[in-house]
Amino acid sequence: MKEKIKIIMDCDTGSDDAIAIMMAILSEKIDLIGICTVAGNKALNYTTENTLAVVEALNSDVKVYAGCPESMVTKLLPTRRGSYSGFTGVKDEGDKEPEITYHHDHLPLPSPTRKAEKQNAVCWLIETLLTTEEKITMVVTGPMTNLAMALRIEPKIAENIKEIVFMGGGFKVFNATRCSEFNIWADPEAAQIVLTSGIKCTMVPLDATHKANFDYQDCKRLRAMNHFVTDAVALMIEQRIEAYDAYQPQAVLGSAPIHDALVVGYILQPKVLEEIKFMRVDVDFSGGMADGQTICDTRAYPDDERNCYVALGANNDLFHQQVFSLLEKVN
Ligand code: BDR
Ligand code: CA
Repeated sequence: MKEKIKIIMDCDTGSDDAIAIMMAILSEKIDLIGICTVAGNKALNYTTENTLAVVEALNSDVKVYAGCPESMVTKLLPTRRGSYSGFTGVKDEGDKEPEITYHHDHLPLPSPTRKAEKQNAVCWLIETLLTTEEKITMVVTGPMTNLAMALRIEPKIAENIKEIVFMGGGFKVFNATRCSEFNIWADPEAAQIVLTSGIKCTMVPLDATHKANFDYQDCKRLRAMNHFVTDAVALMIEQRIEAYDAYQPQAVLGSAPIHDALVVGYILQPKVLEEIKFMRVDVDFSGGMADGQTICDTRAYPDDERNCYVALGANNDLFHQQVFSLLEKVN
């Protein structure tokens, strides 16, 4: 068998992050070295607890490291986030959880008994990436705060990162604001640090993830697997479909993307992403209407060097095959 692909995941778990983590744990081709958590879909305590719940449900011994509870600087200027419409039902601390939401505070899995490691995710990332003998791929499915902090503290870690594959950004499709995607919008400075780090970056934007939606029929198939984990996945996707129908109706009603899982699909089979273009991508962090926008320069002669592979499409059938064949293994 070929060498396993070494990855570190950095997640704001979240329903779609949860499915991405499950795929990575269940794949024999992936060596999941550790999972970092970050604030994003939910406050850090929830994203960490949800991550532990996933790991424990799959009887995995992968370690979980809690990282940054806040974005790098966005909240320093309270007026900056004015253009956010709260599309996702993401709530501020203390708000009542909306009934229809993409991400409930707790995943529908048993509460974890395990705790996160004592070391902070940023310190662990630096230590691991400085000492690894083999290059590691970073799979980032939440705001990029942890990785950007690590790169700022110890830029040498870049030498040992093979590739950064992240779910985030939009080319023509957006969700947090009229021109930004949530993960990037949540910490635009962090995203810009990562994109200008010189490390190979592959961006999986909403344009790609919305081309590989799951529907109620898929949930039925998952429920037929008859396992508490696949039941939980079915429920999470049903909740996502309900939220998408309510807040961001898709081309086909009754369907929803599971964004973050597509990144793991790409790690396993790069051809699951389609229409990949090498572009110059920068992030607007000016605090104005375009705050958090991924600005993709498609001109023949961009002002700055190209720095990111951007996927504009996805192979829907292949992605479904990947998700089902991995989840079948929980039985
Ligand atoms: C991204 O934001 C989060 O809500 C999801 O988990 C995904 O990573 C989609 O914009
Ligand atoms: Ca996420």
